Amino acid sequence: MKLVGVAGSLAGWKTNVLIHKVLEAAKEIDSSIETELIDLRDFDVQFVNGDPLTFYNEDTFNVVNKVSNADFLIIGTPIYQASITGALKNLLDHFQVDVFKGKVTGMITSGEIDKHFLVSEYQLKPILTYLKGLVPTGNVFVHNDAFDDENEIIDEDISKRIKLLADEMIFLQKSLDNKKSH
Ligand SMILES: Cc1cc2nc3c(=O)[nH]c(=O)nc-3n(C[C@H](O)[C@H](O)[C@H](O)COP(=O)(O)O)c2cc1C
Repeated sequence: MKLVGVAGSLAGWKTNVLIHKVLEAAKEIDSSIETELIDLRDFDVQFVNGDPLTFYNEDTFNVVNKVSNADFLIIGTPIYQASITGALKNLLDHFQVDVFKGKVTGMITSGEIDKHFLVSEYQLKPILTYLKGLVPTGNVFVHNDAFDDENEIIDEDISKRIKLLADEMIFLQKSLDNKKSH
């Protein structure tokens, strides 16, 4: 079972740290889970222009395929202008509409405005659901104050919520896989 994490920030490192923590928590719960972190800053994902996927550069082709082939996913983004980053939206625009069918797609966000804790529910969740992903009830928003200057998480409650999210994602994915095999 492979869990792929997507970090949708091209600027700071908080999203990368959060995705890393979710993957780490999943491994602690079930060490047989394979994990991979895809940080969008490491790839030149081209803008969607309507061409078939094979027409895009190698990075675009590889990232789209890695995400499409994951068994389940955790998607992370900073909140930008009360929404997700353009980089993440562009990646999501590359997928076929049933790409996440039978897959759990978790969400984790960070931001500097605490009133934006529900942005993922209203901006990211509809996209993941449209792509047929199953979004867990656990939705972790992390305020910038929960990080120190080195981007370490200093709020114990966040670490607990990340573990709960990983736990729910694994439970849901195993339940879906179990249903498929019967
Ligand atoms: C262009 C831009 C727009 C932003 N808009 C918001 C916003 O609407 N709400 C919010 O809570 N934070 C906003 N922020 C703050 C970031 O979401 C926050 O600092 C985040 O933790 C950065 O994550 P990163 O370190 O992974 O890049 C914005 C930051 C930038 C650069």
